Amino acid sequence: MPVALHKLLLFTFGIVYLADGNSALLSVRKDPRCGWKPHETKPWSYFNLLTRIVGGNQVEQGSHPWQVSLKRRQRHFCGGTIVSAQWVVTAAHCVVDRYILDYLNVTAGEYDLSLEEAEEQTLPVESIIKHPNFNPGRPMNYDIALVKLKGSFRFGPSVAPACLPDPDEKFDPGYICTTCGWGRLRENGNLPQVLHEVNLPILNYKECSKILLTLRKPIQGDTLMCAGFPDGGKDACQGDSGGPLLCRRKHGAWTLAGVTSWGMGCARGWINNLRKNYDQRGSPGVFTDLRKVLSWIHGKINADLKMKSSTASCSSQDGKLHGNEGSLHFPESPKHFYENNQLCVWTLLVPKGMHVLLNFSHFDVEPDTFCDYDSLLVYSKDDRLVGKFCGDDPPSPILVGYNSVRLKFVSDNKEYGAGFSMTYKAVSPDALPDSGCGSLAVLFKAGVIQSMHYPEPYSNLAQCHWIIHAPEDHVILLTYQSFETEENEDCSYDSVTVYEDSAKEEEIAKSCGFAVPPPVLSFSNVMLIIFKSDETETFGGFRATISFIHMAGKGSNEYKWQPAFPQGQHRRFSRES
Ligand code: ARG
Repeated sequence: MPVALHKLLLFTFGIVYLADGNSALLSVRKDPRCGWKPHETKPWSYFNLLTRIVGGNQVEQGSHPWQVSLKRRQRHFCGGTIVSAQWVVTAAHCVVDRYILDYLNVTAGEYDLSLEEAEEQTLPVESIIKHPNFNPGRPMNYDIALVKLKGSFRFGPSVAPACLPDPDEKFDPGYICTTCGWGRLRENGNLPQVLHEVNLPILNYKECSKILLTLRKPIQGDTLMCAGFPDGGKDACQGDSGGPLLCRRKHGAWTLAGVTSWGMGCARGWINNLRKNYDQRGSPGVFTDLRKVLSWIHGKINADLKMKSSTASCSSQDGKLHGNEGSLHFPESPKHFYENNQLCVWTLLVPKGMHVLLNFSHFDVEPDTFCDYDSLLVYSKDDRLVGKFCGDDPPSPILVGYNSVRLKFVSDNKEYGAGFSMTYKAVSPDALPDSGCGSLAVLFKAGVIQSMHYPEPYSNLAQCHWIIHAPEDHVILLTYQSFETEENEDCSYDSVTVYEDSAKEEEIAKSCGFAVPPPVLSFSNVMLIIFKSDETETFGGFRATISFIHMAGKGSNEYKWQPAFPQGQHRRFSRES
């Protein structure tokens, strides 16, 4: 189906559900809150400490909805934490491979690695930002990276973001936090199929740096944070890296305090380190302290948002554009993307009596069959919706038979695009009868329409569209004055087809040949007329008048016209008939 036609279908649909669809479009969907487990089981207690990733326990499905598995092709290799629908936090050492984008997938809603859970979602990755100060040599400073997904996770009971700490929020030494992952169950031990977690106390920084000195890993003013028990027994282990260390903040929300980075062995404990050979020594779990890299994280995520943000004024206030011609770019630079949750309105106003021609040059609005997520809506006379557009092909030019057009751009809370660019100009209404051939003509007045060059032969491969809007309580009468088009049995070569507005499915009449077809009456106050020709044979074409008939006492929408001319009768017209 040609693009223009496809888009046409969309907006005829739009008219039908605008009454309730409109309010849905305008309301802003909010991100769910962070840090909540949909089925938080039992309140936290010290009893949890008794359950033993090393020394931990298997979790219940969905109990860490922010936990993701980074996969090399199908295989888990590191953990990560969802912080927004598009962003995952992980460890830099997990994503050092130069070719990682070729194979990296991120799975959310994962529980048992050997099964596909109902809510499981796997997305490829758009980009990875490693902290520029990441140093792969231990103590592995700045072991943190941001993974931007290609697409967004759909949040639900088993997929949800963890909170990022507030700038002034700290989790003091002694605070018991939880780390989780699909890492080994003991040093050099087995990899589990299901997600495990373990509770660990945060160590104070001085203590942490003292322990790491016994491993000849001096740290100062670094991004490290230690958690664990001096005599070991509980820890993260190989395969847990990149995953979260989560602490519950005051009101209970699970907050990302650290990212699993490394350890000397797993769960060894460190109390007798100095009495041991170097390679027998142990360490706490070493995590990247989120507080130390928080501003970097916000900076990166916000910079990405800013990149998307418009420099064009966009507000719920009406930006008015006057004059005989002009242009509208949204956002101002095609290098920028529009933001989420936008509602922008512009009114184009040309001198009275003139009509407006819209020409789109670039168009990139989140595609959807019904343009239900992001869309550009075009309204004209009496605030009638005359078009609803999305996707990445510019709509064909639109000629609006009125001197003002209102454009409304809406975006939801996900995905984004580069917006649109268009020019508009005032055109004289005299040029109108064949206007539907160079553009989609939207007409609000009775008048005449005709094929291009009429009465000279029309072009091959013509695609002419007219949409007629009559005032309420009116129906539209199309009366042919002359008619000369290529003839064949089912009018599949060249034809004039008249549709009622909804979805272009309801054909009212289709005509071809050389006899003047009988008049056609619309079902409602909208009518769509399409003239098309194939690649051979052209004739003089057609000319028809459009008139409006008032339906006294009836709402035009309810009015059901019983055609005076039974359908089949004027489907085909031939010279002989
Ligand atoms: N760096 C390792 C990984 O890639 C392990 C991280 C945690 N080790 C530990 N003992 N706390 O999974």
